[in-house]
Amino acid sequence: MWAILLVFVSCQSKKANHFEIQSGQFHINNKPVQLICGEMHYPRIPKEYWQDRMKRAKAMGLNTISAYVFWNFHERQSGEFDFDGQADIRHFIKLAHQEGLYVILRPGPYVCAEWDFGGYPSWLLKEEGMVYRSNDERFLQACERYITRLGEELSDLTAENGGPIVMVQVENEYGSYGNDKVYLGKLRDMIINAGFNVPLMTCDGAGQMEAGYVDGALATVNGAVGDDVFKAVDRFTPGGPYFVAEFYPAWFDVWGHKHSYRDYKKPAKQLQWMLENGVSVSIYMFHGGTNFNYTNGANAAYGYAPQPTSYDYDAPLGEYGNAYPKFFAFREVLQKYLYKDELLPEVPAPNSVIALPIMEFTNSAPLSNAFNERVESERPLSMEDVNQDFGYIHYETTLNRAVKGKLTIKDVRDYAVVLLNGQQIGSLDRRHRQSNIQIEVTEVPAKLEIIVENVGRVNYGSEILNNRKGITEKVTLNDEELLGWINTPLPLYNAPINDYQYEASDVKGKPAFHKTTFNLNETGDSFLDLSQWGKGAAWINGRSLGKFWNIGPQQTIYVPGPWLKKGKNELVIFTFEDTGARKAKGLKKPILDQLGIDKNKPERRVHDYSKTPVLDDGDKINYSLVAQNNWQDEFIFDNVHTMRHLALEILVNDKKTAITEIDVINADGSLLTKDTWEVVYVNSEEELEYQVGADCAIDGNFGSHWEVQPSSKADCIIIDLGEIQSIKSIRIHKRNPEKTRVDNINIYGRPQFFLLK
Ligand code: GLA
Repeated sequence: MWAILLVFVSCQSKKANHFEIQSGQFHINNKPVQLICGEMHYPRIPKEYWQDRMKRAKAMGLNTISAYVFWNFHERQSGEFDFDGQADIRHFIKLAHQEGLYVILRPGPYVCAEWDFGGYPSWLLKEEGMVYRSNDERFLQACERYITRLGEELSDLTAENGGPIVMVQVENEYGSYGNDKVYLGKLRDMIINAGFNVPLMTCDGAGQMEAGYVDGALATVNGAVGDDVFKAVDRFTPGGPYFVAEFYPAWFDVWGHKHSYRDYKKPAKQLQWMLENGVSVSIYMFHGGTNFNYTNGANAAYGYAPQPTSYDYDAPLGEYGNAYPKFFAFREVLQKYLYKDELLPEVPAPNSVIALPIMEFTNSAPLSNAFNERVESERPLSMEDVNQDFGYIHYETTLNRAVKGKLTIKDVRDYAVVLLNGQQIGSLDRRHRQSNIQIEVTEVPAKLEIIVENVGRVNYGSEILNNRKGITEKVTLNDEELLGWINTPLPLYNAPINDYQYEASDVKGKPAFHKTTFNLNETGDSFLDLSQWGKGAAWINGRSLGKFWNIGPQQTIYVPGPWLKKGKNELVIFTFEDTGARKAKGLKKPILDQLGIDKNKPERRVHDYSKTPVLDDGDKINYSLVAQNNWQDEFIFDNVHTMRHLALEILVNDKKTAITEIDVINADGSLLTKDTWEVVYVNSEEELEYQVGADCAIDGNFGSHWEVQPSSKADCIIIDLGEIQSIKSIRIHKRNPEKTRVDNINIYGRPQFFLLK
């Protein structure tokens, strides 16, 4: 067994610790150390609980935590830095030190992380033509100011300077975005110049390491398990150190999609393999937490897919510090690798949870209470134009003639509620590519209001370049442009919500604030059940709890115990889209896995055929074909491959493709169930009466199929397996062996998502 120092290595002392890479291993003061790390994010955990979560990390058996630094959490307006309160990352790191944990710092500046704009500040979007994540001079200057400032804040906390920071990461999975080594080199130099005198690293999926690594930083792999780790790393640093910088025992949620849940048994075995083989690992996430201040991001490659408020992640430590079975399973694994006589700390007792009484909301305040700065313009302005980062924006214009027809908003970023003379006439949801609504104006002048929510800026892929919010271009009525607008930014998350004028009358059917108070004898964590409330946001005692949306899967929002008070508490709910519900209660357990009715959803799933996937050779799989019989072909891979996305390119031009089912077989020979699968991309599909296209290839039903007419282009399908899997082969079932050929095929697999162009 590999000799390791797990919790044994103490980093509590103030003296300098020399962390380095030596003979294929990490060393601290000349002793080998295996980093058993877990990711957690300071803005996603109430500050009052930072230390609590670290104690639990330690008790599970971690010796290191890794943390992104979120640029847009510290520099909300250009040049104005904030490192206080929830943004006091220095305190977070010092607490880790106090708890005997090393820290891997991941300052980005791009971090991904299901975080608005991948951590970039929204004011970058104001700069015409600026290209982010590139060697663009103006962009690099902004990066440098931030990294330099971060150095002033944190560089004295490196191990070399007596603190806990043992490594600093350059960029984040840059290889899945570009391969500009000049850009990476400049970021690397900025980090060094900012005073971070410890080893640097990059991290990428196995197929993207070539593009993502930079000289002078250790190339580490994300998402790989088993021997794939060695194969990936040996190409860059033969013999190691081997570090899986992101190991995913779970995954994040998406609004309107089934809750992501992953059983602990397989990840526990994978973790055991890492321990056994001397592979350092960072669990992404160890503890996810909550997007309290509307900071969630979105994916966009396969249609706009924003993440919810909860970042529970089904991580070992759940959203409110609750230990899932995965926590104990991992602890059991990690415990086996301790030094003799070494013991893990006891797992701290759970924090108390309380129910909140049924509360009635009898006081309301109209939206106009939040109106502050009002800006006039010809065309509607985007949020960035009015220096707004998160939240909502209100647009108002006057219609002076009676008219009936189509009101088109170009583009809705991301959810719009439309009011005519104070009455809601509909809503538009970018997730469903909705951009217009029927309108009828009978009495003039008529007041048209459009309130648009930023549901989360894209944090992954090329769409990050196209990330403005609100109305990004124009509004037309029957193709005639509407000009003359009043724009009112409503960031709300930081609004003086308790100072609004609440009155004992109900503002119904339109965006408004509703307030209630309740008394408590004791405090504790609670979960506000807003499943009846539609769409909006909530505050407890003036602090933002984040947003809710009854489409689920999250139906409760987390109320941290330390934010409650003994005695009187004030709860405010903003109804962006009102259902008329005026009662709420606090549960003792969250509801994170219940989908609700998605009223804007169109009947049939429409795939977007306009894009092309980027299928890298690095992700290509070699196989041998076993034609078991005429009805099915099995493609057995030369090696087991780790993947979340499976892409097939079927290259036949003489016959049509007609596939009833695609089966995937994992490393231990069992067939994967398809409950959480999704066809995320297809470049062609017939829409016949008796079937509905590509989705039929994974519906478990041999009576339906995916059909494509003969053509010279390859038929391409990408399947999201819902979680990372280790795959040995795939089996393709054909509808009619006489008429279909699938033997000429390219297969690709990737732990992350394939990008689309
Ligand atoms: C990637 C990124 C992380 C996060 C995960 C998914 O690996 O590096 O920031 O987005 O995917 O949770």
